[in-house]
Amino acid sequence: MTPNETQTLLLDHVDMRMVTADGDDNCHDRNAIVKLDPDHPGFRDPEYRGRRNAIAQIAMTYRPGSPIPAAPYTELEHGVWQTIWKALGPAHREHACAEYLECLERLAFDSSRIPQLDEVSQKVEAISGFRLEPVAGLVEPRIFLESLARGVFLSTQYIRHHSTPLYTPEPDVAHEIIGHAVTLASKRFAELNRLFGEAVSRTKITSELDRLARVYWFTIEFGVLRESGRIKAYGTGLLSSAGELAEMHKAELRPLDLEVAANHVYDPTHYQAILFCADSFDQMHEMLKEFLLRW
Ligand SMILES: [Fe+2]
Repeated sequence: MTPNETQTLLLDHVDMRMVTADGDDNCHDRNAIVKLDPDHPGFRDPEYRGRRNAIAQIAMTYRPGSPIPAAPYTELEHGVWQTIWKALGPAHREHACAEYLECLERLAFDSSRIPQLDEVSQKVEAISGFRLEPVAGLVEPRIFLESLARGVFLSTQYIRHHSTPLYTPEPDVAHEIIGHAVTLASKRFAELNRLFGEAVSRTKITSELDRLARVYWFTIEFGVLRESGRIKAYGTGLLSSAGELAEMHKAELRPLDLEVAANHVYDPTHYQAILFCADSFDQMHEMLKEFLLRW
């Protein structure tokens, strides 16, 4: 089997494993570069690695508040974006919740070119006040989550390797934009993201941060809900992957219970076997908002 048949995103913003994976001391820095694993699809491609480093430099020299410099994507990489959209267009129509589809319409992406973070950030900020800032790679979960309280989404800018257009072992610009940036063009989603950030800022105990990160995982990243009797995705990890969207219907659905989700240990290396399903978008929004305010 190829990776995209069996695996989901191996690491994500809230997965604590990334912090301790290789004992990298730099992970406390928001611009720490994650060295490519030998199993990474781009590991043996010096051209790709060179471009990754050039894009990482943008994040390293970036000053918040200034425009985000354009990333030098190649035609091959724009082709990756096209392939992703070709798969996601029908998958979104079939499996995405209405709130997401409305946001997607608002942002009106060109399916033939990877949009630059700066233009996406401007559009999102005009709608919800959230903006994007570039980071070189994965950052420590606390840094990522706390920035949400300030209305800032720390976004990677590189795109996955062209050999695996429908699979990425790490968040890339396609996951950030198609998943997170789109949902942040909803005032209600933006509010929940801010509340997550504020809750994390109030959380000093590591085990409690783990619980909060799991709630983030099972809602913002892998949340599903019922809409007109059908199961639809509102989680960014699902919405940015056609494979995940197809697989989510095989998962065991549990009623949305945030206390249970907080204690449910997940496996980020495979499609999710268990998902928490809300009765509606409104129910999810109310329940999560109340949970985060109480936290
Ligand atoms: Fe994510």
